[in-house]
Amino acid sequence: MKSREVHLNAYLQGEPKPENFSVVEADLPAPDIGQVRVRNTYISVDPYMRGRMSGRHTYIAPFAIGAVMEGGAVGVVADSEFDGLNPGDHVMSMYGWREGYTAAGNTVMKIDTQSLPEQAYLGIAGLTGLTAYVGLKRMIDLKEGETVWMSAGAGAVGSAGIQFAKAMGATVIATAGGAEKCEYVKSIGADHAIDYKATDDLAAAIRAVAPQGVDAYFENVGGTHFTAALEVLNPRGRIAACGMIQRYNDAEQASITDNLTMIVGKSLNIRGFIVSDHMDIQGDFVSDLTSWMMAGKIQPAETVLDGIDQAPAAFMGLFEGRNTGKMLVKI
Ligand SMILES: NC(=O)c1ccc[n+]([C@@H]2O[C@H](COP(=O)([O-])OP(=O)(O)OC[C@H]3O[C@@H](n4cnc5c(N)ncnc54)[C@H](OP(=O)(O)O)[C@@H]3O)[C@@H](O)[C@H]2O)c1
Repeated sequence: MKSREVHLNAYLQGEPKPENFSVVEADLPAPDIGQVRVRNTYISVDPYMRGRMSGRHTYIAPFAIGAVMEGGAVGVVADSEFDGLNPGDHVMSMYGWREGYTAAGNTVMKIDTQSLPEQAYLGIAGLTGLTAYVGLKRMIDLKEGETVWMSAGAGAVGSAGIQFAKAMGATVIATAGGAEKCEYVKSIGADHAIDYKATDDLAAAIRAVAPQGVDAYFENVGGTHFTAALEVLNPRGRIAACGMIQRYNDAEQASITDNLTMIVGKSLNIRGFIVSDHMDIQGDFVSDLTSWMMAGKIQPAETVLDGIDQAPAAFMGLFEGRNTGKMLVKI
């Protein structure tokens, strides 16, 4: 059996380009004792992967050059020599960027596809949803009646965060690129939507919809958004520093933003986090998500490209705003 997989050709600087990736055919051997052979059905592409393509060691090691990359994936067991997994079982793994794999059965996790579609485990019910939850619950400690600004609101974490924040009783301002995305964030509950591409004064646009100020900011973008957030946050405002995608393709670390003195003057609390350090909150997340879903408060959204050949385009699309909701590749 064969499987096509995506390799990184060299560490890159600046924007990722198609020539940075190769699609390569590999053998998919029958499983040995303790192994499973799995056909992936969906793979995830995520902004954090850009950091792994730079060759720098951050909180996670760089991807290996000329080898298949890693990432979230869901798939179906084709053959099993592992007790506890049978052909037809759906599993989640980190064996993404490929059509299939043969691996130790204890490195994949069985998922229940009765109550949720399998791809939701890569989106709102997986690490994406958990990221939004950790940011709102643990970093910001969002309270009913507060006003929160969700940046990249039409994206995977952002769209989950808008719906969670509404379920927590907050007023939500969402920023997103373009009129269509603004319509979308309103359709999932945002009280106010601002097209950041259509304004040259983001802070003024936020103030216009939130004259009472903003209590908390969910940072997915950085740069101009961070500068505006420091300006509009109320005294003792909180920032969940989740991501700063505006800077991920910069070759050099960007210069310090304006408005930093406001951190002192307003006693702002800025908390950076990596979701994998907060797995202990998973039980609360599943319990809240289940009850919000049962109450009809959650609408998952995905942008799906078809076929492993499209995986590089899906990844590059994240930096061009091509996705609404979670960006996935269907295999
Ligand atoms: N801390 C953690 O553990 C953790 C975990 C997951 C994700 N994250 C971070 O969370 C953020 C969102 O991740 P995601 O997976 O949900 O991705 P996403 O939001 O679904 O996709 C990225 C979105 O960012 C926006 N964007 C791209 N380039 C931009 C730019 N130069 N300026 C402004 N906006 C830009 C685009 O939306 P528009 O069309 O609206 O511009 C795009 O759709 C990222 O920063 C990511 O690194 C952090």
